[in-house]
Amino acid sequence: MVELVKLGNTISRDCPDFRPTKMGLSPYQVRQLFLRQSQGHGSDSTYLLNYPRPNCDVLSGEQSMMMNTETAWRVPASHPALNSREVHVWRASLLATSEQFETLRDTLSDDEIARADRLRLENKRNEFIVARGVLRTILGRYLDVQPASLAFSYSGRGKPELAATVGRELLCFNLSHSGDWLLCAFAAGRQVGVDIERHHPVGGLDAIVRRFFSAGERAAIHSLPEEQKLASFFRFWTLKEAYVKAQGIGLSYPLDQFDVTLTPSGPPTLCNAQGDAAQWSCVELPVDPGYSAALVAAGHGWRSALAFFLHTSTG
Ligand SMILES: CC(C)(COP(=O)(O)OP(=O)(O)OC[C@H]1O[C@@H](n2cnc3c(N)ncnc32)[C@H](O)[C@@H]1OP(=O)(O)O)[C@@H](O)C(=O)NCCC(=O)NCCS
Repeated sequence: MVELVKLGNTISRDCPDFRPTKMGLSPYQVRQLFLRQSQGHGSDSTYLLNYPRPNCDVLSGEQSMMMNTETAWRVPASHPALNSREVHVWRASLLATSEQFETLRDTLSDDEIARADRLRLENKRNEFIVARGVLRTILGRYLDVQPASLAFSYSGRGKPELAATVGRELLCFNLSHSGDWLLCAFAAGRQVGVDIERHHPVGGLDAIVRRFFSAGERAAIHSLPEEQKLASFFRFWTLKEAYVKAQGIGLSYPLDQFDVTLTPSGPPTLCNAQGDAAQWSCVELPVDPGYSAALVAAGHGWRSALAFFLHTSTG
């Protein structure tokens, strides 16, 4: 009988740096604020999103794949290629059979296994292993190397990047996991940030919006009927988090100091008083009901392509 490794939502609880941000909270505490009431609320469809899909293309020349709620994600060729005007986003299930789990675990380095072992909760440990194994497997396909041969280095704020000289400047990536899903974004010579969140009730939503959102975002959310506020909150949140992850700063970035604007017909936009946020652009990603996801990448004029990762037992 096949044993399924079940994984849950996560936050970086193992990070030793709990220093407060300018807003008086550490990134860990910022996450905790709106995750506090998430326990016990799964990926039900209580918080269905109702907004236009982003303008995403798919990788060319692949076999199409039916997903639960949409068909935008395709299984790409075994050796996908990136050009400089594309950002590829891969989506993978965090559910793995025990055999698939072992295959992914075998690709991890000793320090990654040690990091996983330090995670006290089994579901967090398994989630880290699956996410890192999938990331390595996909990177291996782009670079045509064995997943286990890759080495990572980390920015001062913990953003992983390729440590080896091969492909380092060229291949940028970022990942996010929540609920049952992992997203990995890849771009050639372009910084990227991705975020996915499973919706859950957020206690004190108005206070969180007041504290972390810009004036424009606050006005947009407060103008909505009560029943639409939560889904809208997660749309803004994932776009904001994808932006601070693209920059490699994470939740230490003062989240109220830049503005996400949602438009009914086009992709969302980013701006701030200094003008540098406008040098990044973003899209919302089509994910299952009960989730929101967003992608931010440096520059303009790139197109996103969506790929589905199929677990195998051979990597
Ligand atoms: C990055 C951050 C926003 C992720 O929050 P999250 O919603 O819990 O997690 P997500 O699933 O969206 O993303 C996690 C992934 O983002 C990547 N990541 C980690 N730090 C990152 C950073 N500073 N910027 C961009 N990406 C980062 C990692 O790949 C991580 O996955 P891993 O833990 O499996 O390696 C949050 O952890 C943060 O703010 N980190 C920075 C905190 C800091 O200042 N740390 C100092 C060093 S410990």
